[in-house]
Amino acid sequence: MKTTSIKAYGTISPEADLKSLVINRREVTPEDVEIDILFCGVCHSDLHFARNDWGMTQYPVVPGHEIVGKVVTTGAAVTKFKKGDIVAVGCLVDSCRTCANCKNDVEQYCPEWVGTYGGYDKYLDTTTHGGYSETIVVSASYVLRVPENLDLAGIAPVLCAGITTWSPLRHYKVAKDSKVAVVGLGGLGHMAIKLAHALGAHVTLFSRSENKIKDAKRLGANQVIISKDSTQMESVAGHFDVIIDTVPYAHDLNPYINTLNTNGTLVVIGYLGPLDPALVTVPLIMGRKAVAGSLIGGIKETQELLDFCGKHNITSDIERINIQDINTAYQRMLKSDVKYRFVIDMKSLKE
Ligand SMILES: NC(=O)c1ccc[n+]([C@@H]2O[C@H](COP(=O)([O-])OP(=O)(O)OC[C@H]3O[C@@H](n4cnc5c(N)ncnc54)[C@H](OP(=O)(O)O)[C@@H]3O)[C@@H](O)[C@H]2O)c1
Ligand SMILES: [Zn+2]
Ligand SMILES: [Zn+2]
Repeated sequence: MKTTSIKAYGTISPEADLKSLVINRREVTPEDVEIDILFCGVCHSDLHFARNDWGMTQYPVVPGHEIVGKVVTTGAAVTKFKKGDIVAVGCLVDSCRTCANCKNDVEQYCPEWVGTYGGYDKYLDTTTHGGYSETIVVSASYVLRVPENLDLAGIAPVLCAGITTWSPLRHYKVAKDSKVAVVGLGGLGHMAIKLAHALGAHVTLFSRSENKIKDAKRLGANQVIISKDSTQMESVAGHFDVIIDTVPYAHDLNPYINTLNTNGTLVVIGYLGPLDPALVTVPLIMGRKAVAGSLIGGIKETQELLDFCGKHNITSDIERINIQDINTAYQRMLKSDVKYRFVIDMKSLKE
């Protein structure tokens, strides 16, 4: 298959900084769309992947799965998009299309789903490369329409931070007056607050940091509980229907379980790995409480969210950066020093 060489940014080892690289994109097949990337959000998963935190990274890695861009070429069979359309690509670019999960629009749970980066690229028999790059070629079925009324840089984080929090909010039927808590005010956390608030829920933020209280309320939280303060934690015992936990590293879930109502569910979306300390099952059994997980969202649900954001005028709060600033951005993300998502202006890659 023919390929085109393009500029990208990525890393060749867990210790190395991200730097300029050249990668190949496949030729545009009849069902593909070629996209000129305008903006790409910076997810904490990009950092985990670049540093091989999950032990599965194949190098070189080119992260980025919050992609907004303009269609430059469409394959002969593509009817959904035309040249010049503003479109988006999120965390997955393919799946088997035939299994029960694919048929039920939850492609993210397809055993053969293909991540936008770090997945298996069957066309080139290599690893997929993400949005820290000039262009991307994606099957039209995995490309999304972007509402025209929204800021294009601000919408990029909806493609991961947005859908990853939206999917469990919808699955657990969060609606008007639901009692929702969000653990951690970062990229995912700030979208969780905005979206739960837009659904009419009463929203609480659990944060380690007092200096996030004002922002959390501006984003839509009704209250903030400082998780290090046991008196504050006790004040919400037995309170929540749903907790969305976005913390990226191993942490103690037990204090949060105590704040769930009977039948309440804590959904872990941030941390991948064994719990430390272990989960105490007594309150789960005594209160029919659940601990669950959730992975991004399917294409149909992501389009629903983009349309919801268009209708409710929701975008992410972002700090726009140039690609040359990406290593500093990673350092700042590790210190939770970002309000609340870095988005790369991909023009900077062309410079
Ligand atoms: N399930 C999925 O499909 C999915 C999708 C995307 C991302 N993720 C994962 O979700 C996690 C969050 O991503 P993100 O982009 O939102 O990250 P982020 O912007 O860095 O935010 C994480 C937040 O968690 C809190 N936090 C950080 N370190 C902590 C620690 N050691 N203990 C307690 N709290 C801590 C901080 O909030 P406070 O300062 O307010 O405490 C921080 O702002 C990452 O691990 C990412 O890989 C999962
Ligand atoms: Zn992500
Ligand atoms: Zn499938």
